[in-house]
Amino acid sequence: MTEDGRRARVPEPVFTITGLKKSYRTGDVVVQALRGVDAILYDREVAVLLGPSGSGKSTLLNIIGGLDTATEGTVLFRGENLAEYSERKLTLYRRDHVGFVFQFYNLVPSLTAKENVALVTEVAREPMRPEEALDLVGLGERLSHFPAQLSGGEQQRVAIARAIAKRPDVLLCDEPTGALDSRTGIRVLEALTTVNESLGTTTAIITHNAAIQRIAHRVFTFSDGRIVETHENAERVRPADVEW
Ligand SMILES: Nc1ncnc2c1ncn2[C@@H]1O[C@H](COP(=O)(O)OP(=O)(O)OP(=O)(O)O)[C@@H](O)[C@H]1O
Ligand SMILES: [Mg+2]
Repeated sequence: MTEDGRRARVPEPVFTITGLKKSYRTGDVVVQALRGVDAILYDREVAVLLGPSGSGKSTLLNIIGGLDTATEGTVLFRGENLAEYSERKLTLYRRDHVGFVFQFYNLVPSLTAKENVALVTEVAREPMRPEEALDLVGLGERLSHFPAQLSGGEQQRVAIARAIAKRPDVLLCDEPTGALDSRTGIRVLEALTTVNESLGTTTAIITHNAAIQRIAHRVFTFSDGRIVETHENAERVRPADVEW
């Protein structure tokens, strides 16, 4: 209980990751991408995943997003073991609960911003209107623009609108600012922060840029297939105040 008598909010785990290992075999060569990862991602938090190339960041994101499977260990999503999901349930999991944002935006060039977002909202359960999703990422005035008429950062924000329009539980972002200059990258991070604050979407962001870690609640540092450090930011910094 807190002083005013309310029950202190206990953070609820969204993902509980235990002993996770992943190896890839290509011919005779086996690569161990994850060598035993233990981590919890909490409801409504922003987590930044840092670490050198090849340290396993994308592998972990792909497994918790249901795009890949582990070799050993478990991922619980709100208490349910993803490895026990049927194909059908896994498809629904990806469709209803997970939003992905990648380094390259993968927008359909012949569709407007609004139409690109509508592609997803048409199959979602309780979607936002495309206008609403684009408004949230600061593109409410660009509904009728085609990707070629938008800057890289604006295209990435359309991709974020597309990912969040289905109101996913979790948003998994693999180097969302990787192709952008710093000013444009900051706008993209602002869009992610706004989405996290207004929808409560648990957000994981992979980046090579250590400066970005200051926007997170918590930072996981990877090295050689393991999480070697978990750091909690006592104070978070707004994306606009990140210098890189
Ligand atoms: N589909 C695959 N087949 C074979 N090996 C793979 C596959 N995916 C990843 N790997 C290997 O697993 C290791 C971890 O890769 P991963 O993509 O998770 O690293 P990362 O931390 O995301 O790196 P980067 O920062 O370069 O994106 C690497 O050695 C990579 O070559
Ligand atoms: Mg990667």
